[in-house]
Amino acid sequence: MTILVTGAAGFIGYHLSRRLADRGERVIGLDNLTEFYDTELKRRRLVQLSTFPSFEFKHVDLANREALAEALKGEPIRQVFHLAAQANVRYALENPYAYLDSNITSHLNLLEHIRHSGGVEMFVYASSSSVYGAANPVPFHEDAITDHPTSLYAATKKSAEMMSEVYADIFDIPQVGLRFFSVYGPWGRPDMAYWLFTEAILAGRPIKVFNDGNMQRDFTYVDDVVAGILAVADAPPGGPRHRVYNIGNNTPVVLLDMIKTLERIIGKEAELDFMPAQPGEMQVTCADVSTIRKDFGFRPTTSLDVGLQKFVDWFRRYQRWS
Ligand SMILES: NC(=O)c1ccc[n+]([C@@H]2O[C@H](COP(=O)([O-])OP(=O)(O)OC[C@H]3O[C@@H](n4cnc5c(N)ncnc54)[C@H](O)[C@@H]3O)[C@@H](O)[C@H]2O)c1
Repeated sequence: MTILVTGAAGFIGYHLSRRLADRGERVIGLDNLTEFYDTELKRRRLVQLSTFPSFEFKHVDLANREALAEALKGEPIRQVFHLAAQANVRYALENPYAYLDSNITSHLNLLEHIRHSGGVEMFVYASSSSVYGAANPVPFHEDAITDHPTSLYAATKKSAEMMSEVYADIFDIPQVGLRFFSVYGPWGRPDMAYWLFTEAILAGRPIKVFNDGNMQRDFTYVDDVVAGILAVADAPPGGPRHRVYNIGNNTPVVLLDMIKTLERIIGKEAELDFMPAQPGEMQVTCADVSTIRKDFGFRPTTSLDVGLQKFVDWFRRYQRWS
């Protein structure tokens, strides 16, 4: 079986591709290596993936539908994991069109490709906790109303969910959308707080703490996320043609407590530079994971202490290679 992973040079796509290739699946990893963050990190992830003979990388921009069709021509793809996106809430203030191209046009191009090529048995795509906006009670349940996003990023993720709903219904393409909650871990994202804080504490630089550090995030370790994706994909077919599930840790942590955990792991105190809240940021995120637990047996198993320790250990090694 051939499996397509989009965003394979990205954080979660890299981990998922690795797990799939490790169990012997033929994986086509697709990415356009956007310069949103250090492309050297993406290239290094690809170097790791290139050690698996069943992994093949294709450098393609999903927003270019001709290039996408050409790259996938004749490939017998049965499962698609669509993880490519323009992530980050704040960057939309600088570059809104990246969200249109990578999160809306690209999603539609992929759906169109699947519709016309046929043969895809399951389309799993990444959505986000950001679709819940500011007005929903925590923990967020999949049935909550998601019509009031607080960022352009969230609006594009919600748009992708709605396009999938339509394509599942009209073209009978089985789909699962997974709303991820603040994913972290080795080979992670340099724009995210846990990376920025670790880097700054180690270098003895002050860290910017928005909203006085009062936000709460449901930090979810990347191996738990990959386990959740695979639990969904490996389940026997059935049920509604389009479903949406949360993948989170169900344990929100105050940002200042996360910083304290990092200080303890690194063995050094952080210098805090308090800043006002940023537009578009949510106050609290927390996943209700009861539905994905009931349907697929998903259970996150990694505490923040353990996960951050693994991240910091990896980060120190990564810095030595650089
Ligand atoms: N990491 C998190 O905390 C988190 C939380 C919620 C949702 N998500 C979602 O999970 C998915 C994976 O996120 P990630 O953290 O691995 O991000 P990432 O930025 O590390 O990976 C995304 C990859 O997609 C690629 N990409 C972007 N636009 C593309 C395009 N037009 N064509 C081809 N490739 C393109 C990028 O080059 C990048 O390598 C995304 O859909 C993101 O929105 C992530």
